[in-house]
Amino acid sequence: MLKKRTDILDKNIFYEAAKKYGTPLYFYDLNEIKRRIKLVEDTLKGLNFKIFFAMKANSNPYLLKFIHSYGIGADTVSVNEYKMAQFAGFLPDEIVVNGNGKSMSDISFYARENPLCVNVDSYEEIEKIGSLPMHIALRINPNVDPKTHPHISTGLRENKFGMDFETAKTVIKSLPANLNLVGLHCHIGSQITEIEPFIEAFSSLKSFVREERLDLEFINVGGGWGIDYTDKGEGINLARYENEALQILSSFDLPIYFELGRFIIGSAGYLITEVTEIKSTPHKNFVIVDASMADLIRPALYDAHHEIEFLSGKSEMIADVAGRICESGDVFAHGKKIKAPEIGEIGLIHDVGAYGYSMSSNYNLSTRPAEVAFNGDDLILIRRRENFEDLLRFIEEEQSS
Ligand code: LLP
Repeated sequence: MLKKRTDILDKNIFYEAAKKYGTPLYFYDLNEIKRRIKLVEDTLKGLNFKIFFAMKANSNPYLLKFIHSYGIGADTVSVNEYKMAQFAGFLPDEIVVNGNGKSMSDISFYARENPLCVNVDSYEEIEKIGSLPMHIALRINPNVDPKTHPHISTGLRENKFGMDFETAKTVIKSLPANLNLVGLHCHIGSQITEIEPFIEAFSSLKSFVREERLDLEFINVGGGWGIDYTDKGEGINLARYENEALQILSSFDLPIYFELGRFIIGSAGYLITEVTEIKSTPHKNFVIVDASMADLIRPALYDAHHEIEFLSGKSEMIADVAGRICESGDVFAHGKKIKAPEIGEIGLIHDVGAYGYSMSSNYNLSTRPAEVAFNGDDLILIRRRENFEDLLRFIEEEQSS
C-alpha cells in the first residue's frame, strides 16, 4: 500500500498556510508530486516510455513547470491548454493534443504549431483536417469496460471518444499524404484500479498493429491509473501493472507514451477549509465548512470519496460535512465519524490535486480559492484568490452602471 504524505507532513504547515492565505485554500505538496513521478518511472523501468502530464487534471503553470523539470511532456485537450503548456515552457515537440470535436480554428492552430502529435478522434476529423499537414495518431475506442464510474469511462463503444478498429482501417487506407500517421492512441477511462481492462485494451491494439502491419513511431496508451482515495489500498496495483501489463507493452517494440494526470498529482493536493457553523437538527449534525462544490465538485458530480480530517477536536461526532452552496448536493461526506471540531477549526480534504481546482466554478458567485505550493521548507503562493472585481471582468462598462 502507498503511504500517504499527511503521515509525514507536519500538520502545523496547514495552519500556517490557512493563516497566511485564508481559506478555502488549495495546498500542493511538491515532494509528493516528485515521489509519484518516481513511482511511475520505477514501475515503467525496462520499458521505452515517455510520460505526458494530463493538464486537465491540474493546469496551474507553476506546477506544470515543476512537472516539466522532470522531463515530462504535456497532454492537452484544448487550444488554451496548449497555450498554457507553452506559457509553462513546454516546446511543441513535448506536447500531445487530445480531445474530440476539434473546431476548424483549433485544427488550423495545431497545424501551425506542429505539436509532437495530434490524436485524431474520428473519421470526420480527418475530413476536417483536409490538406493541412500534421503528425497524427488515431484514437482507438477498443470497446473495453474500464470498471470505473460511468462518467469517466471513455473506451466503451457507447462513449463518444475514438474510432472502432474497422473505422481505423478505413482511415489508414485512405490517409492523405499531408497526414503522417505516427502512432495509435487509446485511453479507456480514469480512476481505473483493475489491471484486466488495461490488458484487454493493449492486447487488442497489439493484434491490430500486427494484422495491419502498421509501421508506427509510438503507441500512446493514455492515462487512467487509479489512486487510493480511501486509504485502504484501493489504488492501481503497480506490481501487477509492472508484471502483467508491461509484458504486452514491451512486445510492441516501440516507445510507449503515457498521459497520466491523477496518479501524478492527485494525492499531492489538499483543500484546506475552515468550519463556519456546526448545526444540529433533530435528525442529524452538519459541520458546515467554507469550501463547497464550487471549489471541489467531485463528490457532488461523481459521488466521489475524499477523506476529510479535522486537525483537532476533543470528542468524536457523526456528521455530514457540507459547504455553503444552495444545493443539497453540496456535501463532502455523509454521516462521517469525525473529531468534533469547533467553529474556526481547520479541516483538510484529501487527494484533491487532480480535477479539483481545474473543475472549480463561480457557482453562487463563489470566488475561486488561492493555491499554494509547499516545497518542504517554504509556502509559495502560486495563484491568488479571486475577488469580486474578477467576477466583473467580463461585464461591459455600460451594463454595470
Ligand atoms: N488522456 C486522455 C485522453 C484523457 O481523456 C484523460 C482523462 C487522461 C489522459 C488522464 O487521465 P488520468 O490519468 O487523470 O486518469 N474529472 C474526472 C476525470 C476525467 C478524466 C478525463 N480524461 C474526475 O474528477 O474523476
